[in-house]
Amino acid sequence: MRLKLKLKTVFVLYFMVSLLGLVYALMQLGQRCDCTEHDIIKDRTISRLRGDLHKLQEEAKRSDPTKAPKKTNLPPIYVITPTYARLVQKAELTRLSQTFLHVPQLHWIVVEDSDQPTALVRNLLAESGLAYTQLHILTPKERKLQEGDPSWLKPRGAEQRNEGLRWLREMASTSRGQQGAAADSGVVYFADDDNTYSVKLFDEMRDTRGVSVWPVGLVGGMRFESPVVDGGKVIRFHTGWRPNRPFPIDMASFAVSLHLVVTNPDAVFDGDAQMGFLESSFLQSIITMEELEPKADMCTKVLVWHTRTEKPKMKREDALHKQGLGSDPNVEV
Ligand code: UGA
Ligand code: MN
Repeated sequence: MRLKLKLKTVFVLYFMVSLLGLVYALMQLGQRCDCTEHDIIKDRTISRLRGDLHKLQEEAKRSDPTKAPKKTNLPPIYVITPTYARLVQKAELTRLSQTFLHVPQLHWIVVEDSDQPTALVRNLLAESGLAYTQLHILTPKERKLQEGDPSWLKPRGAEQRNEGLRWLREMASTSRGQQGAAADSGVVYFADDDNTYSVKLFDEMRDTRGVSVWPVGLVGGMRFESPVVDGGKVIRFHTGWRPNRPFPIDMASFAVSLHLVVTNPDAVFDGDAQMGFLESSFLQSIITMEELEPKADMCTKVLVWHTRTEKPKMKREDALHKQGLGSDPNVEV
């Protein structure tokens, strides 16, 4: 009898607890929870997953050969840039280097107008992420613009471009010995440090066989100067000043095949050329107008601009310097 009662009690208790549990569960179902914490966790998870997805998509693009052209087979572009020390030099070279980073197979030949390589240019190149060569050659005093001279009085960058050409010819002849005829494949472009370059320009010049040409914006006192093309050939030049020059075009408006540079070892820029004849002094010994290869949609698109950087005024710096309060000279600008 006692045992019977105990079993019955246990059974009733078990039944009650289960029933209570069931009732509680049913009540929870209909109730709203405090979800803000859940939402934050959910949002974080979603944005993390989105980030992961984006990363994977980028990686897939990079490794998909149909979307990214195989870059290593492209002919190299050798860009020769004359440069000289001044307040804006680092800014100019930084802007250029970051444009060039978008161009595959580009080798930057920076030629300083100085008697020694400088630490500023050395460090900038080392940190640029580009393939590069640092050269230097000082413009002789009698050929250099003096303070106060008008900028057109003497050609600028002639010795430096010639030094770049010398390096290229030497490089091609030494690698020819090792690899046979392939050493002079590639294109040479003279990029001044103050111009503005579209990355599309480099696609245009990549397949230059002799000398390729295109328009230049904001040059010669005009909106643009350009070769004029008819039937796929350059027939004259659109320019407002001395159109009868052999090649009335700016340095930024042409590229030359390395082959032509190597097979014409005497073609150089004439540091004594009169105003506006520097480009002609080099081009007339290697090409004729009829042979020029028009690019940029038959010379109808402007992809490079002859921008010039304003010289910064240092009036306040000079005034503070006199009071011993000038900017810290150890900070590189
Ligand atoms: C124009 C042309 O665009 C230049 O290609 C050409 O060399 C120049 O005229 C000229 O007739 O000599 P512009 O803007 O007047 O250019 O020249 P800069 O940009 O002042 O100089 C051209 C290049 O030479 C620049 O890369 C500059 O850094 C370099 N340069 C200039 C030197 O290496 N040393 C100097 O003393 C001055
Ligand atoms: Mn310039």
